[in-house]
This record gives sequence, C-alpha cells and structure tokens, in this order.
Amino acid sequence: MNKLAFKKCLLIVTGSIAAYKTPDIVRRMRDQGAEVRVVLTSAATEFVTPLALQAVSGNEVRQDLFDHQAEAGMGHIELARWADAIVIAPASADYIAKLSKGSADDLSTAICRASEAPMLIAPAMNQQMWENSFTKEALDVLSEKGFCVCGPDSGSQACGEVGLGRLVEAEILIESIASLFNSGSLAKLRVMVTAGPTREYIDPVRYLTNQSSGKMGYALARAACEAGANVILISGPTNLEPPQGVGVEYISSAKEMASSVSEGIGEIDIFIGCAAVSDYRPEAVSDQKIKKSDSTLSLKLIPNKDILSGVAGLTNAPFTVGFAAETEELERFARDKMTKKGVDMIAANLVDKDGLGFNSDDNEVTVFWENESYVLEKQPKEQLARKLVTLISRVYQKNP
Ligand code: C5P
Repeated sequence: MNKLAFKKCLLIVTGSIAAYKTPDIVRRMRDQGAEVRVVLTSAATEFVTPLALQAVSGNEVRQDLFDHQAEAGMGHIELARWADAIVIAPASADYIAKLSKGSADDLSTAICRASEAPMLIAPAMNQQMWENSFTKEALDVLSEKGFCVCGPDSGSQACGEVGLGRLVEAEILIESIASLFNSGSLAKLRVMVTAGPTREYIDPVRYLTNQSSGKMGYALARAACEAGANVILISGPTNLEPPQGVGVEYISSAKEMASSVSEGIGEIDIFIGCAAVSDYRPEAVSDQKIKKSDSTLSLKLIPNKDILSGVAGLTNAPFTVGFAAETEELERFARDKMTKKGVDMIAANLVDKDGLGFNSDDNEVTVFWENESYVLEKQPKEQLARKLVTLISRVYQKNP
C-alpha cells in the first residue's frame, strides 16, 4: 500500500548523529510513493553527505540560502510552495530552539517560514537534552504554531546513555507523515465524485469522446478519502490507477454514468461532478460496423441528461459542486452556470491557458459560491484537489 502516493515531501536534515539514518528514510519514503527533496543544515553535513542524499532522493540536495544560481529563481520560495509536507528529521535540540524563536537565517528555516505546508518534527538528541526544560518549552511553542511532533523513541543512544531521545523508526515516521494529510475535515461524510470522459458509441467500434484524462476527479476522490470521507468514484474510461480506499464504479457512456449516479445518490452528502460528460449521443447506435461508402454520412445527435443539474434538483439534494471550463468572462459564465444548474459551488477555469485543464498535470481554478470566490493558483492537480476539498468542507460545514 503506497502511503505517500503523489505526495511531495521536503526533508530537512539537521545536526544530530541520527542524520546517518536519513538515506534509508528517503528510500523508504520513495518506496511509499513520495517525491522527496532534501535540505541539509550545515551541521547535518558532519553526519551525512549531500551526495548520498542526492543519490537516494534522485534530486539535487540544497544547503545554502545564498546559493546564487538556485536563488536566481527564488529557490527557497519555490521549495516552500512545492512541498505538500515538510519533515524535519532528525531535529536537533539546537534546531528546535532556533525554529521556536522564529529564525529564518538559513535555507531550511526560511523555507519553514515561507511555507503553508503541514510540518512534522522528529526530535533526536541525548536524553538529558530531551529532558531539559528549554527543549520542552520550545516544542510547546512549535506545537501551538501547528507543528506536529513525532517521537522521540526510548533506547540506547549513540552517546552510550539509555533513555528518550532516539529518532523514531522509519515506519513510524512514514505513518506520521501520511497522517499529516488525514485532516478528518470530511469525517463520517459520504462523497460521490464523477470523473473522466464518457464514450458515446456510434457502432460497435467507434465512439464520440473528449480529451478528459480523469486526473482532476481521481485527485479529488483521493483527497476526499484522505479527509476522512467514504468516497465513491464513478469513472469514465481512463488509464489511471484507482485511488486506494475509494470505491470505483466504471462506466462508459453518459447514460450509464447517469444511472450509476442515480442509484447511489440517496446516500450521498456531497456530490462533485468533475466528469467531462458528453452533451450529446447518437440517436441510433448501429449494431454492426458502419460500412464505408462514397456518399456523405450524417449523425443525428440527441442531448444527454445533465447529471449535475439532475442531482442538484433532487428533493434532499446533497451539497453539489460542479466544474466549468470557459474561454472568456470566467466569473459571469461560471455564476450563470451555477444558477442555471442550481449547484452550491462551482470550480471554473479558463481553457485557453497554456497546458492547463484537460489532460495536463496542473490546473488553476477560481471557485465560486454564494457571493464569494477563491482563487486556487496554478499547481499540480493533486495539490489543488486537497485545497479544493478543504474549501468544500468549510463551505459545507456552514450549509450542511
Ligand atoms: O454545461 P457544462 O458541460 O459546461 O457543465 C460542466 C459541469 O456539468 C461539470 O461539472 C460536469 O460534470 C457537469 N455535467 C453533467 N452532465 C452533463 C454535462 C455536464 O453532470 N450532461
């Protein structure tokens, strides 16, 4: 089971002897599906080499805030934005004290200051240093600021003493990193997500479809599941791995999607219509492959039912979220669509932006609800999905 699938983790290694364990930790994080980048403090380089961490992470290791080449592109801000989670392991007594005072005078502390990502600290130090009240006070400050603390473990230490202060085992650290994403914001709720394209068959071998990859819908299903929801994904044909913990129903046509949705919708609290549903289907589907001839061929198309507005129009409708791809006047057309379809929230994007939206890994959307709006800037769909799910849960809690 890939506990860190699609997660971008920044590992900050500080000056503790336990730093020698970090190449193994990085390897295991990658085994769990994480993309890992590493920042070393200068004290950490006494215990582990940048080259070892570069080899196991597959990424350049950064150490210096004043690295002219990297900082030409505002490297520390870029890293702060890139990270889905920041893990400080091992965190030395000195580093914990420094961070608790709000220092931002080296690369790693500047990144922590600039990032909104959840942060996990895994302390590792001599047992007397761990027991010292300075350490406890500093960790209290950091906990209050939202840092999560993992460990330390008890046992024999590099200094020959026995007690609390060992870096936690890699498996425990990985469990704790994974739990950073489990916000519980949708706990006990049932969420249905539609994703991908639909296929409207003309004959047994030909169909009408669109460019949707399903990536956004799958990322939303995964993010809702991580937020504690019981998720059902109704998916058109895609090449994607089903998200772990999510129940998936595969369909092909818009009609099949509509009937899967209507079968399960009675149980649902939040419906997210992310699929690119075909607006039309051929009126007649030929039983046999249509033969080529020299004359023209006309297809008569009839409209498909709008699944989203059907759900929004139900008595006891769930909270409904739709998507809108527009080429101009984003707010006006998105709000029009929201009203026309009767949905609670709409995530809209401009489709003429280079490489954004259909079939790409990144997306940028503006979310509209009631009289409010929120911009989720260009970012990987996995990251955007987590933010959108947080926003949906906030608005839903106000209007359950
Ligand atoms: O009207 P338009 O296709 O632009 O609306 C897009 C939104 O409506 C998406 O949320 C999409 O999943 C949903 N939709 C639907 N059924 C249709 C067409 C669109 O649920 N037949």
